[in-house]
Amino acid sequence: MRTKKWKHVPVTETIQPKILYYGTPVILLNTCNEDETVNISPLSSSWALGNTIVLGIGLGGKAIENLERHPECVLNIPDPSLWENVERLAPYTGKDPVPNFKKDNGFKYEKEKYAVSGLTPCPSKEVKPNRIAECPIQIEAIVKNIQIPEYAPFFAIVETQAIHVHAHKEIIMNENHINPNKWSPLLYNFRHYFGISDELGKSFRSEI
Ligand SMILES: Cc1cc2nc3c(=O)[nH]c(=O)nc-3n(C[C@H](O)[C@H](O)[C@H](O)COP(=O)(O)O)c2cc1C
Repeated sequence: MRTKKWKHVPVTETIQPKILYYGTPVILLNTCNEDETVNISPLSSSWALGNTIVLGIGLGGKAIENLERHPECVLNIPDPSLWENVERLAPYTGKDPVPNFKKDNGFKYEKEKYAVSGLTPCPSKEVKPNRIAECPIQIEAIVKNIQIPEYAPFFAIVETQAIHVHAHKEIIMNENHINPNKWSPLLYNFRHYFGISDELGKSFRSEI
């Protein structure tokens, strides 16, 4: 007779969290302003399959306005060492005037996102917005589709196609691979920043 191995089954409670940022990599999204300068927007809502990368971008911000006008972007993927540069960008929007709902959440207008973040621009190969030199992975991408869900008309689902992937030499292995022992993403975990390790710090909007 087979002996049953009893496993501890955790007890659950039903909760109503305000946010569902359950720990996805941070992206610094570079888009083109109307005057061809570059706006940088921190994001964490994304998934990738093949060369398609889908982003969740709030309406009323500068990123979506820029992508609707000029459908090119760079997805810069920071590592944990850059969390404070990301957080320096967090209270700002490139949108002027700042929409009321953003004002109410503590956002201010800032056009000079490079100056604020302390990061360095470098030219892209094909798309108009530049890349962020300090980010170990930088993906040039074209917007293929923008969809606003009927059930949630406050954000856009933006489908992009990666066309060039740039990576710091130190994290490349066997020509076309990223070495997972050398690379680790910066994770946004319920508004706190983590590497694949201990907590590094938290966002200004964290309530805990
Ligand atoms: C780490 C981090 C992750 C974020 N993730 C998202 C996201 O996935 N989608 C989104 O619309 N906003 C996200 N935000 C908020 C935007 O960064 C914020 O709305 C910002 O004002 C956008 O800048 P922009 O208006 O200049 O585009 C995130 C903020 C931080 C700090």
